[in-house]
Amino acid sequence: MTEYKLALVGFGGVNRALAQLIAERNDSWKNELGFTLKIVGVTDLFLGSVIDRDGLDAALLANLPAVKGAFAQLPGGEAIALNEAVIKDSGADIIAEATFTNPVDGEPATSFCRWALENGKHVVTTNKGPIALHGGELKDLAQRNNVAFEYEGSVMSGTPVIRLARQLLAGSSVVGFEGILNGTSNFVLTRMEGGLGFAEAVSEAQALGYAEADPTADVEGHDVRLKMVILANELLDAKLNVSDVSCSGISSLGLGDIEKARQDGARWKLIGAATRHADGSVSASVEPRLLNHDHPLAAICGATNAVSFATDLLGAVTVSGPGAGRTETAFALLSDIISIHQSVAHN
Ligand code: HSE
Repeated sequence: MTEYKLALVGFGGVNRALAQLIAERNDSWKNELGFTLKIVGVTDLFLGSVIDRDGLDAALLANLPAVKGAFAQLPGGEAIALNEAVIKDSGADIIAEATFTNPVDGEPATSFCRWALENGKHVVTTNKGPIALHGGELKDLAQRNNVAFEYEGSVMSGTPVIRLARQLLAGSSVVGFEGILNGTSNFVLTRMEGGLGFAEAVSEAQALGYAEADPTADVEGHDVRLKMVILANELLDAKLNVSDVSCSGISSLGLGDIEKARQDGARWKLIGAATRHADGSVSASVEPRLLNHDHPLAAICGATNAVSFATDLLGAVTVSGPGAGRTETAFALLSDIISIHQSVAHN
């Protein structure tokens, strides 16, 4: 039976939810997936770090109080985050990176990914920063070191988008896509359709845990812009930087605009769109668009995300599902590990 040793980098909601899944489901994964997971190290800037090459108790980790330096309570644990030691020296095969997204330079997550790949560890991450800002470099590094770099959870959490398009739509030429890729802004627009003011709707999204630490990134389209760079580079073979994607958000829309759209049989949505042109160039934008009710994305309401791929053999193929959430995003890490297992098994 294959057992992968896993180190968790960042122990906020997502990796904690992964520890919980491991505690509950590891036994059933033996038959269902053909492998089990053993956590050998965890590090977190707030909680500290702990390494045990024989394996840590996943349930104990999942239930650890979220207080500063909490890992010091565990045998061998430290109140400080020994990131480099956990990544390089815990004996891990796979590093699950789920620290916060830094949209400016992608740090410190990008360095965590580099250390892991340079040391021959597979990396699974949910973090948009390293991929949108340094994706090309990290993919090359993974290839040179003969390890995987997987990031399904960076767009639409566990809802399959990247691997679905890359693997299952291969051969059908994806020539563009349009998406609702930010749950907070879609939730806000839906609540405004119900008559709630913009600020109140944003506060609700924050209380429900959808919004980024700074919700400006959600409502001004910056979060979607990072996701557009990731998807366009991945699926349209583009080489876009963040500054190549024009971006405007929903903060300029008022209740009057929403009501006028309703009377016209339409809806405002924050849409990320990308197209590959005949000369091979790719353009991408993020902006509020007025969609008629027959548009494949018009009925996507609340915090739900969706992406509609334009393909030459199938026409529009639309996938919808959660775009955020702890367990939903932890599932994306699991799906990346399954993909690594399948490719290791086939080599
Ligand atoms: N703040 C994001 C959203 C979370 O609202 O969709 C996932 O990137």
